[in-house]
Amino acid sequence: MSLILRRFASRAASGAKYMAAKPVNGPTHDALSKAQKAYLDRVIRVDQAGELGADLIYAGQYVIFGHSKELRPVIRHMWDQEIHHHATFDALQKGLRVRPSLLTPAWKVGAFGLGLVGGILGKEIAMASTEAIETVIGGHYNTQLRVLANNFNDRKDLKTGENTDSAEIANIKKKIATFRDQESEHLSTAIKYDAQKARPHWLIYETVKLLTKTAVWTAERV
Ligand SMILES: [Fe+2]
Ligand SMILES: [Fe+2]
Repeated sequence: MSLILRRFASRAASGAKYMAAKPVNGPTHDALSKAQKAYLDRVIRVDQAGELGADLIYAGQYVIFGHSKELRPVIRHMWDQEIHHHATFDALQKGLRVRPSLLTPAWKVGAFGLGLVGGILGKEIAMASTEAIETVIGGHYNTQLRVLANNFNDRKDLKTGENTDSAEIANIKKKIATFRDQESEHLSTAIKYDAQKARPHWLIYETVKLLTKTAVWTAERV
């Protein structure tokens, strides 16, 4: 029970932080072009769905590993970070009025199921799944950071007339870079906790990678 309350408190705090960072004196920059707005919507939609999925995958794993002396703190730490990622994208999605993925109920069930089944199959298989997922997500965030760096720097500051990032885009880039680094830590943790001892490693790794890539592709569009 206290865990559920803690998760809600953590989400509310993350959301409040983002709302406080929003500009209050109207726009500071040229409006986004149609293509920029469409891309940004896709970024928020897929990242919100992905972080919701990550939150629930670790929740599923915690049902099993919450009883393990060795793994409880490890999973808990990664889960806490995913809760924060999820809350941040929830707030961005609401703040920027982006419609959530229509498949949200399916992401919830699929992610929790993946975490739970991985946990039931054992530490090595659960960690190999984490290794695959975090590899795909790290690459996904790097791609977004490249596009945001290259295609969003042509907007005029309404005061100075110079082309710079708006506070809103700078904020999103900063968040994605931080989360990318944390996902990369999760990848290292999975390897440290025997992901590569799973048998057959290549099959589990490639299957979960393909599943994750398919989910990312779909959540960007639906
Ligand atoms: Fe995450
Ligand atoms: Fe992660």
